[in-house]
Amino acid sequence: MARRILLNLAAALALTTTSINAQSTGTGTQGQGLHSLFVASGKLFFGTATDVNNVNDAPYQAILNNPNEFGMIVPENSQKWEAVQPTEAKFTFANADSLVTRAKAAGQQFRCHTLTWHSQLPPFISATAWTRATLTAALETHIANVMGHFKGSCYSWDVVNEALAEDGTFREDVFLQVLGTDYLAISFRAAAKADPATKLYYNDFNLETTKAKADGAVGIVQLLQKAGVRIDGVGFQAHFTVGGTPSQKSLVATLEKFTSLGMDVSWSELDIAHKNMSTATSASALSQQASDYVAAVGACLAVPKCVGITVWQFTDKYSWIPNTFPGMGDACLYTANYTKKPAYFAVASLLASAAGNSTKTIGGNTTALSSTPVSTSAAVTLSTAGPSGSATTVPVEGAATSPVRSGGSQAFASQFGALLWSLVAVAVFLL
Ligand SMILES: *[C@@H]1O[C@H](CO)[C@@H](O)[C@H](O)[C@H]1NC(C)=O
Ligand SMILES: *[C@@H]1O[C@H](CO)[C@@H](O)[C@H](O)[C@H]1NC(C)=O
Ligand SMILES: *[C@@H]1O[C@H](CO)[C@@H](O)[C@H](O)[C@H]1NC(C)=O
Ligand SMILES: *[C@@H]1O[C@H](CO)[C@@H](O)[C@H](O)[C@H]1NC(C)=O
Repeated sequence: MARRILLNLAAALALTTTSINAQSTGTGTQGQGLHSLFVASGKLFFGTATDVNNVNDAPYQAILNNPNEFGMIVPENSQKWEAVQPTEAKFTFANADSLVTRAKAAGQQFRCHTLTWHSQLPPFISATAWTRATLTAALETHIANVMGHFKGSCYSWDVVNEALAEDGTFREDVFLQVLGTDYLAISFRAAAKADPATKLYYNDFNLETTKAKADGAVGIVQLLQKAGVRIDGVGFQAHFTVGGTPSQKSLVATLEKFTSLGMDVSWSELDIAHKNMSTATSASALSQQASDYVAAVGACLAVPKCVGITVWQFTDKYSWIPNTFPGMGDACLYTANYTKKPAYFAVASLLASAAGNSTKTIGGNTTALSSTPVSTSAAVTLSTAGPSGSATTVPVEGAATSPVRSGGSQAFASQFGALLWSLVAVAVFLL
């Protein structure tokens, strides 16, 4: 066992060193971010949620608008029903339009979110005494107008969001009360009519952790398929907690329940929150978070029909977690100050490794990632120094793309820290 771990660590170090060398020498991954590495691994996108309240933050925008880092944008709030149809007669698209315009200018795609959902509804929904006919018409009008407005700009639409209770039965909301489960087919049918080119998704949370709920979502896919209504994919929100994230194997098994039904799948709102903020910056908590991100990203890599990942904000500065779950937080890949966290480097390293494999597979070109000989003893030393030694060398932003050892002690410390975390992450992945 010990020998196997050492071998794996040595292999991991070789991979990690290889990918960093590749970046520095321009032989494969230079200047690349999470999106371009994920694309090189055969996936469609790595993206992030954002919204209009973030536009005046220059450091934030600099990262957001880098299409190598994020190739897909999803609005956190600006396309929700209350935002785009605040009263029955009025549609307002200005905020969402500005996000679409920014994404296009940056060379990024747009994932549209969301149409039929029990939450963040405008007041007229609860103020109206709906009948089957009037609520059907209201849903169809909403979907036709909103999807019609954004037609051609959306890679996909989250048509129905969070229809399930935790026990896998349908959530008791206005749509279920008035229309029964027919509201699902009504929504997806209206969506298919409004924009035949966009992918139509069902989106929900805790499908990854709660078997009854995942079975309920399988039931939704089957219900629509049986009714002859188009559904293309299932978005798994993937709001996880540090130490509470399912294993990669378990995540793959859950995704495959849906890909076997012909669905595309994605992590649609990925973040991994610390449950105890008093220990959130400890080396072990950061290391666990990195392992958990690697499990999630690794699961998507392992499932061919997992098309992409969007994180629900990339910086702790704007994460929804502390407001919604007081006492929890630090769930994102970047700190509130825009430094890259161990989880960022672990994910980037995993993707660089996967991209290298993919290059080999696709092109049969093994020179894309030229390897550098690494002695086993170096690997052993680094592995012992890993989690504890890195607490004081939390990497600074830019370290992964400018790995110049001679660039001063801070740059070296950052690079070294990044290397250590990458090593741990890749070792966990390989084990
Ligand atoms: C959080 O961690 C601190 C320090 O280890 C501990 O004292 C405290 O009990 C923890 N709180 C919870 C809610 O677990
Ligand atoms: C962010 O910067 C402030 C001021 O420079 C510092 O006090 C704080 O610890 C930093 N926070 C993080 C998460 O790096
Ligand atoms: C890369 O390929 C090797 C050898 O086939 C494999 O063990 C490893 O898991 C792959 N890594 C990734 C990230 O796909
Ligand atoms: C392999 O990739 C390298 C670097 O991109 C390139 O210079 C070389 O021509 C490629 N070889 C083949 C056989 O495609």
